[in-house]
Amino acid sequence: MTDVSGKGPEPGDDRPVLTNRQGHPVYDNQNQRTVGVRGPATLENYQFLEKISHFDRERIPERVVHARGTTAFGWFEAYGSWGDEPISRYTRAKLFQEKGKRTDVAVRFSTVIGGRDSSECARDPRGFAVKFYTEDGNWDLVGNNLAVFFIRDAIKFPDVIHALKPDPVTFRQEPNRIFDFMSQTPEAMHMLVNLFSPRGIPADYRHMQGFGVNTYKWVNEVGETVLVKYHWMPRAGVRSMTEADAAAIQAHELGHATRDLYESIERGDHPEWELLVQIMSDAEHAELDFDPLDDTKVWPENDFPPKPVGRMVLDRTVDDFFAENEQIAFGTGVLVDGLDFSDDKMLVGRTFSYSDTQRYRVGPNYLQLPVNQPKNGQPHTNQRDGQMTYQIDRGGANPHVNYEPSITGGLREAQYPTHDEQGPVIEGRLTRKRLPRTNDYVQAGQRFLLMEGWEQDDLVHNLVDQLSQCDRAIQERMVWHFLLAEDELGRRVGDGLGISADEVAHLRPLASQDLTEEDRKRLENLG
Ligand code: HEM
Repeated sequence: MTDVSGKGPEPGDDRPVLTNRQGHPVYDNQNQRTVGVRGPATLENYQFLEKISHFDRERIPERVVHARGTTAFGWFEAYGSWGDEPISRYTRAKLFQEKGKRTDVAVRFSTVIGGRDSSECARDPRGFAVKFYTEDGNWDLVGNNLAVFFIRDAIKFPDVIHALKPDPVTFRQEPNRIFDFMSQTPEAMHMLVNLFSPRGIPADYRHMQGFGVNTYKWVNEVGETVLVKYHWMPRAGVRSMTEADAAAIQAHELGHATRDLYESIERGDHPEWELLVQIMSDAEHAELDFDPLDDTKVWPENDFPPKPVGRMVLDRTVDDFFAENEQIAFGTGVLVDGLDFSDDKMLVGRTFSYSDTQRYRVGPNYLQLPVNQPKNGQPHTNQRDGQMTYQIDRGGANPHVNYEPSITGGLREAQYPTHDEQGPVIEGRLTRKRLPRTNDYVQAGQRFLLMEGWEQDDLVHNLVDQLSQCDRAIQERMVWHFLLAEDELGRRVGDGLGISADEVAHLRPLASQDLTEEDRKRLENLG
């Protein structure tokens, strides 16, 4: 085509021509349309208005937590059995059954508290969210790199996050606010002992574990259920950083973990994790000193040995960061047949929260986006319309029938494979109570004792560093908690702050906690 301005494509330039979103060719992408060379600009300037108004809408709200993250793709391969015990004994979930069966996955790693451009060297839990595109639809396993969490009831989640996020006035992350909340939250001690140890700053995403944290259920062919916890173990081993290591990287780069994952996959060094499950019979387990539905606890590996069920390899990076990382949406409610919820009080709250925030953050039709679609399990629903609908997942032969039941077409209900709903018979009064067997200190103390010397030193150093920026009353209560968890931990943190056991012996237990006999004995010996 002759160009009126005299410009034209260079010979041999066969690149596609720039268009606007209506498919109209763009002849000049450098100059607005104006009246005369010096303007004014005109309002019918469709090409310019489309370009600038789309740009004005480029950002969607970042995630309220886990805003900084990175996504990669790959596959999960099932082992099918442990020795001669088939996995079908515990779950009928199809993706686990056959040895060698592969399922596509998307994985998003993240930090929790910072915004979407924040440092990946932060002391912060790391998210480890996996979407399995199974033949029965999607399964999301939304975990973290630390095995436990700060709280055991979802009603406290906005508070713990507000305490950890920047101050609403100064917009600085304030140790005083964090430990103000933690000092009144005894169940957080186990998580804090993990978070302030070197494990609180993973070296990168390829060298960290993942944990489902909450308790789920598996269901077999005849409807029998067991409780399960999920663990991802990196083949490359676990690597962590001290504050000094982190500071050195952060001095010149904020996104080292995103870069590391991207570059390693691109050069063919594909990271791999093994998935293991711990299994417990579906009961209250009065013999244990904790409740299996309490996510501030780990299940002792001697009694509940983790069993390998498959491996995951990541071999593809994103084609587009926004489409596949910002818009990907995970949730704990996204399960497939053979996997189920437990009554874990965090899990039920999480399950509401994820899809609720995604309808706001991405939009009501977020599940129509390619990265979120159940691409190996075709959806057929009677859900219609809403912002940004671009496909109708009806599937029925009669397009007039967008309701069910009907005798004139449309969709029908599926049949349960072999049985009706599984699950226990539950009786009880409506109430608001803590779980029995809170036992907030034992596992925190055990975790400290299991650490190597340098890890203990790092933990004490990091706690003292943060607590020294806190009010005296908060310091005293934290030393008191650590003394109840493990004498050496409490004394060393106390020494660092100049607070002796004697000085905190007068503190009474919090109204929000239950002490065990062992805790009471420790308390009596404080003075
Ligand atoms: C992200 C809520 C506890 C792991 C999120 C998001 C919300 C949320 C609203 C943002 C989701 C989005 O915008 O797409 C909650 C609530 C919790 C809770 C209410 C407790 C009641 C946990 C726990 C874990 C966890 C215990 C770890 C086991 C994650 C991960 C993400 C996330 C990995 C990021 C997912 C992604 O990469 O897109 N959470 N969360 N959360 N949460 Fe939680």
